[in-house]
Amino acid sequence: MTKPIISTQDVHLFYGKKEVLKGISMDFYPNEITALIGPSGSGKSTLLRSLNRMNDLQDDVTVTGSVNIDGKNIYAPTTNKVDLRKRVGMVFQQPNPFPFSVYENVAYGLKLEKKHTKEEIDRIVEESLKAAAVWDDVKDKLHESALSLSGGQQQRVCIARVLAVHPEVILLDEPTSALDPISSGKIENMLLSLKDEYTIVIVTHNMGQASRISDKTGFFLDGNLVEYNKTKHIFMTPSEKETDDYISGRFG
Ligand SMILES: Nc1ncnc2c1ncn2[C@@H]1O[C@H](COP(=O)(O)OP(=O)(O)OP(=O)(O)O)[C@@H](O)[C@H]1O
Ligand SMILES: [Mg+2]
Repeated sequence: MTKPIISTQDVHLFYGKKEVLKGISMDFYPNEITALIGPSGSGKSTLLRSLNRMNDLQDDVTVTGSVNIDGKNIYAPTTNKVDLRKRVGMVFQQPNPFPFSVYENVAYGLKLEKKHTKEEIDRIVEESLKAAAVWDDVKDKLHESALSLSGGQQQRVCIARVLAVHPEVILLDEPTSALDPISSGKIENMLLSLKDEYTIVIVTHNMGQASRISDKTGFFLDGNLVEYNKTKHIFMTPSEKETDDYISGRFG
């Protein structure tokens, strides 16, 4: 049986005294897309951010339980957070390119690593932009500002920026909610093609998107993981009434 790449065990997360995740145990498998769904405020983004310790940027956050990657708890004091975030890359809801050229955006992490020649960086930038399905859009404007691109192109450049440093896991928090259906469709197809190489976890409010691209779906409600199963099961024959109510639009 395949082993999960990330496994959370009884994760509780507090902002100050407020408990926002109430004991989440969840396995994420390689070469699968996992969708996290649930109403606003249910803890989806918080769980996603707990997978690469993005929550630690804030100092009133307390996390208990463990998040294991390859069997090691990332909350151990010895974890190097820079390395962790390279292994577990993240894409946000609003495209957030740096105010540099397209090329510099994608080359950024590689240049920080200081271990690649100029030729290698050129090659990886091109490969990453191709994998992110945005090469044809930007190949003639690599040295123009990324901010001059459309929102959909910017988001794909941000995905290329994550791919360039070869993460194992890619976390995406509503990556297409600010985009038109055509750009969203391009990103969905791209994610499906990236599945062969990566583990992908995506938060989405779009039920169609979750059912089109994900292998497994987790339904969150009020800080609890109500149900986690194969996507088909969640959408066709959910075991819990709350899941059924949510996916059929009765609340949320
Ligand atoms: N930085 C923060 N400081 C304090 N409370 C926060 C912070 N971020 C989120 N919360 C609270 O944690 C709870 C879960 O928020 P979270 O952002 O994880 O929800 P979500 O499911 O992603 O919602 P949405 O669908 O609206 O993005 C909410 O009650 C929210 O108010
Ligand atoms: Mg959110």
